[in-house]
Amino acid sequence: MSILVTGGAGYIGSHTVVELIEKGYDPIIVDNLSNSKIEVLDRIATITGVKPKFYKVDVCNKDEMRKIFESESISAVIHFAGYKAVGESVAKPLMYYNNNLNSTISVLELMLEYHVDNFVFSSSATVYGDPKVLPITEESEVGGVTNPYGRTKYMIEEILKDVAKVNSNLNIAILRYFNPIGAHPSGLIGEDPNDIPNNLMPYITQVAIGKRERLGVFGSDYNTVDGTGVRDYIHVVDLARGHLAALDKLDTKCGLTIYNLGTGMGTSVLQMVNAFQTANKLKVPFVITDRRPGDIDACYADCSKANKELKWQACYSVEEACKDSWNFQSKNPNGYDY
Ligand code: NAD
Ligand code: UFG
Repeated sequence: MSILVTGGAGYIGSHTVVELIEKGYDPIIVDNLSNSKIEVLDRIATITGVKPKFYKVDVCNKDEMRKIFESESISAVIHFAGYKAVGESVAKPLMYYNNNLNSTISVLELMLEYHVDNFVFSSSATVYGDPKVLPITEESEVGGVTNPYGRTKYMIEEILKDVAKVNSNLNIAILRYFNPIGAHPSGLIGEDPNDIPNNLMPYITQVAIGKRERLGVFGSDYNTVDGTGVRDYIHVVDLARGHLAALDKLDTKCGLTIYNLGTGMGTSVLQMVNAFQTANKLKVPFVITDRRPGDIDACYADCSKANKELKWQACYSVEEACKDSWNFQSKNPNGYDY
């Protein structure tokens, strides 16, 4: 069964492609490599013994995408392709609206044209904005988003609901990811950010390897256990497996469904620094700095819906994820660039 994986060369996409191959699926990656490296394909081949089929195509380019839909026998689409940097989205909102919305619309139109019924969408816990109640369930209020990136996720969710209403053949899983960290245990694939990392874990690993002097801990006066921000960090392999569980669910012809994919456990920034230090027997120098604008106190998921309906549950601990993040960073000090 061919699964079209847009953005499949990226961080979460590449881990999902590995899981797909290992479960006997036949993934086809479409990626324009705007935020990933071609090298990842060889790494996937080393892990799985299979080099996935790859098209270097912009998903917004409907003519090029049509050729793929025409020539391949696609049973489902997992749509990872999109831009994801919050700060950049504030500076370049049109670039974000253009890429994230148009890539999704392009794929959906082609799915309708070629009668491909099953669609998995990478949404984000960011759609919940600053949650009023924790843990966050799928019923929690959405829409209070404070940046263009987050708004693209919210807007796409609304588009998907409208499209599903009038296309009863479509089965759509909206997966709201919490904070993915970690890497494949082989250390062959992992997160390889361009420039200065925006996210906590890649920043920690770059400090640990000596690329950055120290971690800035953004604020210590949040209403949390130790004053630093609390998030729900999920190992990327657990997250990848959530997509396979979603594909099984879509096969039951379930229409549109929404799932939180997290661990259900909150970890503060300082707890994460400690976990990383303990897991890897390393020191991570840090300094408390000002809050980062737009950050919230705490965010963690209630995953009981995914546990029950997808029969899926995150298995890796934060310590294991810290080990795997460091394993990738230490084996690949310059990411996929030698
Ligand atoms: P990533 O940047 O590593 O992967 C995205 C991939 O999409 C990249 O390989 C990039 O080259 C590709 N891409 C972007 N625009 C494209 C286009 N128009 N055509 C073809 N390819 C295109 O990001 P990721 O962390 O793997 O995230 C995957 C998805 O999950 C994204 O939609 C992201 O918004 C979402 N998400 C990520 C996080 C996170 O913290 N990583 C959290 C919540 C949601
Ligand atoms: N943090 C630091 N120092 C850093 C980086 C982060 O202290 O150098 C703190 C943040 O203040 C926050 C926590 O670490 O408390 C996590 O920050 P991340 O940037 O790793 O993650 P966010 O929860 O802020 O954002 C992530 C994704 C967004 C997504 C959001 C909700 O980056 O794309 O989760 O899903 F929208």
